[in-house]
Amino acid sequence: MCGIVGFTGEHQAAPILLDGLSRLEYRGYDSAGLAVRDGEKQPEVIRAKGRLKVLAEKTDNGVAVLGTCGIGHTRWATHGEPSVTNSHPHMSDDGNVIAVHNGIIENYQELKDKLIRKGYVFHSETDTEVAVKLVDYYYKKYEGTPVDAINHAMVRIRGSYALAILFQEYPEEIYVARKDSPMILGISDGESYIASDVPAILKYTRNVYYIGNLEMARVRKGEITFYNLDGEEIQKELKTIEWDAEAAEKAGFEHFMMKEIYEQPKAVADTLNSVLKNGKIDLSETGITEEIIREISQIYIIACGSAYHVGTAAQYVLEDLTGIPVRVEFASEFRYRKPIMDPKGLAMVISQSGETADSLAALREAKELGVRTVGIINVVGSSIAREADHVFYTLAGPEISVATTKAYSTQLMAVYALALQFALVREKITEEQYEKYIAELQTIPEKIQKILEDKERLQWFAAKQANARDVFFIGRGIDYAISMEGSLKMKEVSYIHSEAYAAGELKHGTISLIEDGTLVIGVLTQPELYEKTVSNMVECKSRGAYLMGLTSFGNYNIEETADFTVYIPRTDPHFTTSLAVIPLQLIGYYVSVARGLDVDKPRNLAKSVTVE
Ligand code: M6R
Repeated sequence: MCGIVGFTGEHQAAPILLDGLSRLEYRGYDSAGLAVRDGEKQPEVIRAKGRLKVLAEKTDNGVAVLGTCGIGHTRWATHGEPSVTNSHPHMSDDGNVIAVHNGIIENYQELKDKLIRKGYVFHSETDTEVAVKLVDYYYKKYEGTPVDAINHAMVRIRGSYALAILFQEYPEEIYVARKDSPMILGISDGESYIASDVPAILKYTRNVYYIGNLEMARVRKGEITFYNLDGEEIQKELKTIEWDAEAAEKAGFEHFMMKEIYEQPKAVADTLNSVLKNGKIDLSETGITEEIIREISQIYIIACGSAYHVGTAAQYVLEDLTGIPVRVEFASEFRYRKPIMDPKGLAMVISQSGETADSLAALREAKELGVRTVGIINVVGSSIAREADHVFYTLAGPEISVATTKAYSTQLMAVYALALQFALVREKITEEQYEKYIAELQTIPEKIQKILEDKERLQWFAAKQANARDVFFIGRGIDYAISMEGSLKMKEVSYIHSEAYAAGELKHGTISLIEDGTLVIGVLTQPELYEKTVSNMVECKSRGAYLMGLTSFGNYNIEETADFTVYIPRTDPHFTTSLAVIPLQLIGYYVSVARGLDVDKPRNLAKSVTVE
């Protein structure tokens, strides 16, 4: 994780770097630092432990740091505790090479031992300091260009990196290298920008280059030259980012999480409309043809975290509508499991960032095994989007809050669209059913909006539950998938222990944890499973649980059983996840606010998990 930025141009660099870092803070926030260079002078390096605001205060919001070329970093600790010494930038002892890094250098110990033997001294516990000193070593050994030195270092480094490097002998220039960690390069009117993610530079430019794996670049004012691993110059196409700059601002909301919860009706509608042509789903942009659809023997959904929860809901929808067997797996498990895959299968990798290390590795594993791959991805041009055979882009726009909401909802919509199209092409549903399902999907945005308009009750309920010790979310089938996401939302932003359980499983052990007042949230959107789950809720109540029921309007009389009931509008049972998740997102949010926590940046987490 970690966020890196860089700038070289005519303006003062430090305020631009701090502004960029503030938009990347979701990637890591335990310390931050800058290295800024004023002409030929030695760069000034400032580092601070804690949130970015500590660094901002230390530098008078960057105004106190002179110079028009610099690099910056916000850290999510991997090697070494959060401290000033472990903060980036790191430098060689003589200040010849200074760098910031995102990623993990797996063989850092071996490289460190080698450098120590060559006389290098280390001050931090980080793997990054090893990379910096390795580049310095090769720069001095071969007396070549920075590109040559980085090149030699890249050949020896195992792991992942996005590196931005300053060389003493090259003022106003930044050198970058990338392998498996995200990085984009922006350009506008004589200025150049480096960032881990689009929001950091969106305010300044929409013109970006995507640097590939094992590539390097020399970044000068308004001019960027790319190199391959052999040090040869390569050409890149300049791309335009379509996201609007306001999308990455809070727009009057107290937190990004709430703003993004509110953006869901639009994001979901945009995603659906992106594939709707004349009332039909058109997958031509993804390259998935009818012939491909007919051939699919098995679907493997691979993802992490909330994206995995989308997969668990998708499994029910896809199997029921298309008749294709579906298997859902954590990317981190899949990649090391030596999976046996059917060559006619389809691996569906779901990821907001398109950079999650485990998901990317799983995608590569599937490709290696000769299986067709499709990415359901939000960030255009991200690694998974570039490497998958087909891409279905979700149109959530930039998602800043670490806890995902709108990206999750758009991923669901993408999966529904694929399920309906697969079902029609494989003749599992009639044209008439297809049209009815699409018409129902078109009502989802306004139904989400309706739930948002009635959020006060949820706020009240959340305030009452703010001191809960444990929360259990239970459900069956799709309701179990919804429970998983509800539980993750609760624990990640409120730090209250919560678990999602398949309702029927609770009695096989976990029910021993239920005691007087334990909150149990029963998700009841599936008509066929309603009574079964209610029975499991009653079992909990008999042991003292306080029950919340989450169900669809007019369906059932849960109020007789539950102590608190939340209703969502009715929809087709396949699509209830899209509605039921909204109150659960809101409850997680409000509990976090009631506990006075940092909703957008929960402790120990980072938005984009680019390490294993
Ligand atoms: O970028 P990705 O969708 O691949 O991220 C996967 C998970 O890290 C992510 O969904 C995470 O669980 C959420 N931020 C939790 O809200």
